[in-house]
Amino acid sequence: MNQIRPIVELGDPRLREVAKMVERSLDEAVINIISDMTATLASTCGVGIAAPQIGECYQVIIVSSRPTARYPMAPPMSPIVMINPTFNSTTERREKDWEGCLSIPGIRALVPRYTDIEVNYQDTQSVFKTINFSGFVARVFQHEFDHLHGQVYLDRVESSLDIISENMFQKLYVEKKQL
Ligand code: NI
Repeated sequence: MNQIRPIVELGDPRLREVAKMVERSLDEAVINIISDMTATLASTCGVGIAAPQIGECYQVIIVSSRPTARYPMAPPMSPIVMINPTFNSTTERREKDWEGCLSIPGIRALVPRYTDIEVNYQDTQSVFKTINFSGFVARVFQHEFDHLHGQVYLDRVESSLDIISENMFQKLYVEKKQL
C-alpha cells in the first residue's frame, strides 16, 4: 500500500549520508520505497523527491516538474523514477535561479546549476536509460541528485544574501507574476 511518510528535515543525519546504491531494483523493499515516495510527493507541492527525504538512504529520486503553488512556472512532465542516477553537464554554462526544498521549509535561495545535462539511470524495470534535461528540469534533477550524496541546496548558495524567506519569495516572485 502507498503510504504518505513524514518528510525528513534538515538537521536529521539521514540527509547528510551518502545513499546506498540499489542492487536489485525489483526487490519488494525498493518497490515499496518508490510507491511511498510517489504518495509522499503527491501530497506536497514539490516537484521532486529523493529517498533520503522519507528516511530511506537509497539512490532513488523522482523528478516530477509540474506547476504547483510552490513552483507556478514549472513546466509539466510525466514523473520519472530514477534509480542509481548519474549525470554529466553537456555545457559549462551555469545559471542561478530560485530553489526550495521540502526538507528545509520556509526558505528559498538562488542556486547555480548547469543548464544542460545528460542523465544515466535505471528505471523501475531495471532498464538502463539516458535522458537529456535542460533548464528547470535539469535544476530539479541536480537538486535531487545532491540529496543522494548528503548535500542540500544551501550548501551551493554563493552568498547568504541569496537566501530569502518563503513568504518574501511568494510576495516578490509568485504573486507579482500572477497579476
Ligand atoms: Ni530537496
